[in-house]
Amino acid sequence: MKQIYNFSAGPAVLPKSVLERAQAEMLDWHGSGMSVMEMSHRGKEFTSILEKTEADFRQLLQVPENYKVLFLQGGAIAENAMIPLNLLNGKSADYVVTGAWSKRSVEDAKAFGDIRVIASGEAEGFTQVPDFNTWQLHPDAAYVHYCTNETIHGIEFVDVPDTHGLPIVADMSSHILSRPIDVSQYGVIYAGAQKNIGPAGLCIVIVRQDLLDQASPLTPAVFHWKTQAANQSMINTPPTYSIYIAGLVFEWLLAQGGVAVIEQKNIAKAALLYQYLDQSHFYYNNIAVKNRSRMNIPFRLRDESLNDAFLKGAEANSLLQLKGHRMVGGMRASVYNAMSIEGVQALINYMQHFEQNH
Ligand SMILES: Cc1ncc(COP(=O)(O)O)c(C=O)c1O
Repeated sequence: MKQIYNFSAGPAVLPKSVLERAQAEMLDWHGSGMSVMEMSHRGKEFTSILEKTEADFRQLLQVPENYKVLFLQGGAIAENAMIPLNLLNGKSADYVVTGAWSKRSVEDAKAFGDIRVIASGEAEGFTQVPDFNTWQLHPDAAYVHYCTNETIHGIEFVDVPDTHGLPIVADMSSHILSRPIDVSQYGVIYAGAQKNIGPAGLCIVIVRQDLLDQASPLTPAVFHWKTQAANQSMINTPPTYSIYIAGLVFEWLLAQGGVAVIEQKNIAKAALLYQYLDQSHFYYNNIAVKNRSRMNIPFRLRDESLNDAFLKGAEANSLLQLKGHRMVGGMRASVYNAMSIEGVQALINYMQHFEQNH
């Protein structure tokens, strides 16, 4: 099989050893005679998979006892609606806009109540997180929402703001498990799976227990975090195969040494690419240095007429899915946990070569 490097923003590259293990277990999981896809979600086999997956996830992120971990369907965008349904209940909420995904969250939440944008980086073209001191927090807000890593714009939060006791609700879809976090600083954390967790179709939601009981009476059972928590995320059939693969990814991460170890690798990969971009007169990245994402690195060619040639050449060199999001154009290299430093080096080699030839 030919060696390629996949820089997709998601669904994204998975560790090869995980895919090989899934392949080996595809027809007969642990002597059960069944594929995981064929198992009842309530049977003893899948129950053991789900329990281990949750335990490993809790270990990786040191999730405190007073938080529930839910394995839900609908991706992160479904949570944009579930968050106000579960938390608003007649109150208002504060939202910070730092890029396309948090902007989308505002639009999706508006239908459910009074959603106030208390800081936005849009006027500056989404190049940095607005200074925490400028956030106009409302003491009566039910929660403060933001996206800790903007996948399209390549902006990452480094610190956690002081919200004076207001629960923080964070969309961590594109950098969860890439660095250690202190879960206790958040009220709710949610993440679509198709980047650092596993295949699409699964969204992991971490909810502090005291926030489970504030839902609007109109919240359907399947979207109700408390009901889902009381039923082991099985008020409906959960995305069983995605959960199984997520479990294999968590085992792989633990074998790597956990999140603190993978963070060092992620720092090294991102530093390599940003250093190369910063010394180049041919390519650039315009995000404020302190907010540059380690996971999603957008860059542009100064001569955009070369974009097609760049992408064509990249593909010919087995460097795949580097095209920037259609909303912003340019290029984007997503370098999630499963991307090796060799992949980043291969990209830089190609970029140097392309620069020399143009
Ligand atoms: C930060 C962020 N939030 C939300 C989403 C939407 O996720 P989904 O398509 O799984 O609903 C994405 C998808 O890429 C994302 O990167």
